[in-house]
Amino acid sequence: MRILVTGGAGYIGSHACQRLLKDGHHIVALDNLHRGHQKPMDMLKSAHPESFHFIHSDLGDTKTVLGTLNTHDLDTVMHFGALAYVGESVEDPLWYYRNNIAAAIGLLDACDQCHNGKGINRFIFSSSCATYGNPPQDMIPVPETCPQSPTSPYGYTKLHMEHILKDYATKRDIDHNPLALTMLRYFNVAGSDSAGLLGEDHTPETHLIPVAIEAALGKRESLSIFGTDYPTDDGTNIRDYVHVEDLIDAHVLAMNTTKPGQVEAFNVGIGKGYSVRQILDSVKRVSGVDFPVHDAPRRAGDAIALYNNPERIKSTLGWDAQITDIDEIVSTAFNWMKANPNGYSKES
Ligand code: UFG
Repeated sequence: MRILVTGGAGYIGSHACQRLLKDGHHIVALDNLHRGHQKPMDMLKSAHPESFHFIHSDLGDTKTVLGTLNTHDLDTVMHFGALAYVGESVEDPLWYYRNNIAAAIGLLDACDQCHNGKGINRFIFSSSCATYGNPPQDMIPVPETCPQSPTSPYGYTKLHMEHILKDYATKRDIDHNPLALTMLRYFNVAGSDSAGLLGEDHTPETHLIPVAIEAALGKRESLSIFGTDYPTDDGTNIRDYVHVEDLIDAHVLAMNTTKPGQVEAFNVGIGKGYSVRQILDSVKRVSGVDFPVHDAPRRAGDAIALYNNPERIKSTLGWDAQITDIDEIVSTAFNWMKANPNGYSKES
């Protein structure tokens, strides 16, 4: 297939490019490099000079995106490009709505215009379990049928995009030009590729596992636990951590399985929840370092407990997480961060 990967220079997008190139697809990665990195793009280009291209552009730049879709005869979009910090979205909601919704509509305009609307026939969207907010107790583990009621602007951007995409898919049906639309609601994505080439390098870094690894590597003095009075066994939040390569596997299965005219939504998470304290214990075990941890107030926008009920994605797509041991997931992240202490920057 010929695939546009938006946010291709980011953490998850670059892992997607790597896997799709390995599978023999023609890939165009598009990224504004706001939080993505040039280095993985250069690495992928030198490994796949014919089948990989990188376009430095905002996804809301419809003219550039349209030109890219037409020039490369692309037929599939994997849309990863988005801002993705829950806490940051509470502090600057308009930026999140502008970037995650307004710019994404620019991308859809380009899809709608390319080759008279006939160009793009598969669209895979990175949604989030943040769309569920705080699920009712009897809906944990969370199935896709759980009511979607986000607790953060970030979660709302993903939920609104699901509605916008469904409306766009309906329009395509009316036009007798059906789209295969899959929305993948990610739980917490973690880890690095097994070859150790790609990793997670965010500035600022706020995600629990990389922040804890930074503390273990001595790059920060300590780590704060945001909330120790939650109604969970140890008082800290619970999340479902899915390895990035398993997540990309779900995209590949969705791309190959969802048919034109079908609109699907799947949760992608391993089906097991770990508390913040359990994750910190894992990072301490993997690194062998007992870094200092402080109790801190709750972070605005955080849900209490989110972990997946993976039945639907297992039975429909045949997806199952291959890496379910938390120490193994943490190890892949730790190995990359240890080998690349400055992330993708030149000094490392
Ligand atoms: N946490 C801490 N201390 C830190 C960082 C995080 O206690 O220094 C806690 C958070 O409060 C939360 C948990 O660790 O309870 C996980 O936080 P992350 O920031 O790693 O991840 P989030 O769950 O907030 O968000 C992530 C992605 C979103 C995605 C979401 C799904 O950033 O894009 O997972 O749960 F939607």
